[in-house]
Amino acid sequence: MDKAKRKAIIAGNWKMNKTPKEATALLNEITPLVKDADCEVIACVPYVDLAAAIEATAGTNVKIGAENCHWAASGAFTGEISTGMLKEIGVEYVVLGHSERRQYFGETDETVNKRTKAALAAGLKPIVCVGELLWERECDITEEVIARQIKLDLWDVSEEELKNVVIAYEPVWAIGTGKTATADQAEEVCAFIRAQLAKLYNQDAADAVTIQYGGSMNDGNADELLSKTNVDGGLIGGASLVAEKFAAIVKAASK
Ligand code: PGA
Repeated sequence: MDKAKRKAIIAGNWKMNKTPKEATALLNEITPLVKDADCEVIACVPYVDLAAAIEATAGTNVKIGAENCHWAASGAFTGEISTGMLKEIGVEYVVLGHSERRQYFGETDETVNKRTKAALAAGLKPIVCVGELLWERECDITEEVIARQIKLDLWDVSEEELKNVVIAYEPVWAIGTGKTATADQAEEVCAFIRAQLAKLYNQDAADAVTIQYGGSMNDGNADELLSKTNVDGGLIGGASLVAEKFAAIVKAASK
């Protein structure tokens, strides 16, 4: 299956930025700029912005995602948000296993897997993030790290469920640092991820999965990164907070 048959997806990851009012204002800027996009466009926003974001994007081609979710349906998990809560208000996507959650909030492959399975069971589409630390790349174990994350994070996810999974390859050393992986580095690891999926499932299933690159992707480098065969989209942090930059990346993915 060639790249053209996979869904290109550009997703903004707003992280801990924008109040609900600011979210509405930014989405009001973004939506007209991306209305003719020939790719899926998503904004993943803080929990408290979700309702405002869904309202601001109603009737547009911009979908809304959350930045995490818990695996339990309900219960004594102070500060957590369930998949059912997200579903009920109209959230479609959820970022899981972002390196900032792994680094600062004790996220492990086991908990990423639990969240991924819960999201899929609820009908949410998880954007599962994987990526190596700089130290791991320097020690030449990038492939071991990625293979382990893919296997564990997707443990017990069926081939049918895989159709709703998006993978984001985000080398940790490239996130928010201005240091982008070269297009060849991104392609190498995205192709490796697809090969792992082919091993765990089969080639057809692997060929259908959208694999994004994330890490200092911007309006200046998106074209080159997205030209690569196995780079099907982007998970965009900093540049997703500036409407023109985000729209330029969406345009690059629409070619
Ligand atoms: P960045 O973040 O584009 O600011 O590097 C990407 C991400 O963390 O998803």
